[in-house]
Amino acid sequence: MHRTTRTHTLLRFLTTIVSIGSIQTAVLAAKGDDNIELLQATDRYGPWQVPRPEFDAFLANHPNATGNYAIPGPNISAPANPASSSNGNESIVDGWSWSIVIAADLPLVNASDAPKDDARARFYYTGGKMTFNAPSSLLGPGGNLTVNDGWQVCLFTWQLDGFPYTDKLRSDDGTCKSVLSDECIADMKLAAAKATVQGTCVCPVSSTIPSCSRLGGAAKVFNNNCYGTFRNASYIRNWEGAKLETYAFGDTTAHHLGNNTAYDNIGSLAWPALISFSNKNYGGILEDSMTSLSCVRATDAVAGSTVPGDSSGNRLSTGWLSTGIVLVLYVLML
Ligand SMILES: *[C@@H]1O[C@H](CO)[C@@H](O)[C@H](O)[C@H]1NC(C)=O
Ligand SMILES: *[C@@H]1O[C@H](CO)[C@@H](O)[C@H](O)[C@H]1NC(C)=O
Ligand SMILES: *[C@@H]1O[C@H](CO)[C@@H](O)[C@H](O)[C@H]1NC(C)=O
Ligand SMILES: *[C@@H]1O[C@H](CO)[C@@H](O)[C@H](O)[C@H]1NC(C)=O
Ligand SMILES: *[C@@H]1O[C@H](CO)[C@@H](O)[C@H](O)[C@H]1NC(C)=O
Ligand SMILES: *[C@@H]1O[C@H](CO)[C@@H](O)[C@H](O)[C@H]1NC(C)=O
Ligand SMILES: *[C@@H]1O[C@H](CO)[C@@H](O)[C@H](O)[C@H]1NC(C)=O
Repeated sequence: MHRTTRTHTLLRFLTTIVSIGSIQTAVLAAKGDDNIELLQATDRYGPWQVPRPEFDAFLANHPNATGNYAIPGPNISAPANPASSSNGNESIVDGWSWSIVIAADLPLVNASDAPKDDARARFYYTGGKMTFNAPSSLLGPGGNLTVNDGWQVCLFTWQLDGFPYTDKLRSDDGTCKSVLSDECIADMKLAAAKATVQGTCVCPVSSTIPSCSRLGGAAKVFNNNCYGTFRNASYIRNWEGAKLETYAFGDTTAHHLGNNTAYDNIGSLAWPALISFSNKNYGGILEDSMTSLSCVRATDAVAGSTVPGDSSGNRLSTGWLSTGIVLVLYVLML
């Protein structure tokens, strides 16, 4: 083989790798942009009309993956410091957090909506729930949170189903920085903090915040339906066990045991959540650490389980596998 021919072959080989790489990227991008479909649980029923107690018990006893994200938050048992002396500086306590739990194969127990078992086997579904947790150190003797009357909070959560999802968020570290810039995050938090002081909980929408809208498609999840929920002191005292469930969900397609397609898809979603504390007795916007944005994802597999997104081999190894095949072909060509 002439040197030039070999150079050409090498070039062609490199071009092949590059184009296979981009085909794969294109396929993954298309997959990541798919609409997310979910069934939402209600107070009485889990997904598929499974009675709520069965859904809750199964998730508690047989989780496959969990995630826990500590956030800063005030000692709401104490009154707010007066504006004159504190500069919006409240005492921060440990124990505020977001958590998520996912189970791959929930049984369709007493589900009025269940598909009939086919000739092969029973059907299962994938489900999970997200919870906002207050510090147990703030629980009073009766088991309720001790809350000083001025405290109030806005909880903002974004709807993921019915919208294309940004695939990048599936590898987020909890900060949402996989898709948002520091400036955009700071501006969203400020908008949320302003709303909280007024007790209105108007959602910060990324398309109306210049530093966020500049990010274009990457930030689109934060344009979806957002729910702002106002909670004052008397509401917070009613959080059972100092926990507030914000969303419980399941997949829309049932599957046979061990088919992890849905687990990898909806289990690897990161859920944006913004929390902002304020105090009526303080009046103004409390310091920055009283508002936090999180992207909550189940990243910790329980013993014997796989992390969602990993159960069918991760994407990098698929990439290397095809490169390997091309390499073998090239060696054969020589
Ligand atoms: C929170 O504030 C209350 C009232 O001031 C105080 O008794 C309690 O020790 C504080 N808790 C923590 C964990 O700092
Ligand atoms: C908040 O309080 C802490 C400890 O009391 C102090 O170190 C810090 O400088 C204060 N920050 C502001 C903005 O007042
Ligand atoms: C399903 O429903 C039946 C009748 O309502 C009840 O007897 C049974 O205990 C339920 N099964 C489970 C696992 O909850
Ligand atoms: C909390 O809000 C409820 C309903 O809007 C209201 O009835 C109650 O008085 C408020 N409680 C406090 C402590 O602000
Ligand atoms: C404590 O919380 C429960 C609900 O978890 C509620 O029914 C009860 O009224 C609360 N008690 C007080 C004193 O707020
Ligand atoms: C696995 O379940 C998904 C739905 O989550 C379904 O679309 C797919 O066909 C199932 N795969 C197999 C091999 O049955
Ligand atoms: C989920 O946990 C069950 C045990 O509760 C296990 O049999 C199953 O393999 C796990 N699935 C995944 C995807 O980790």
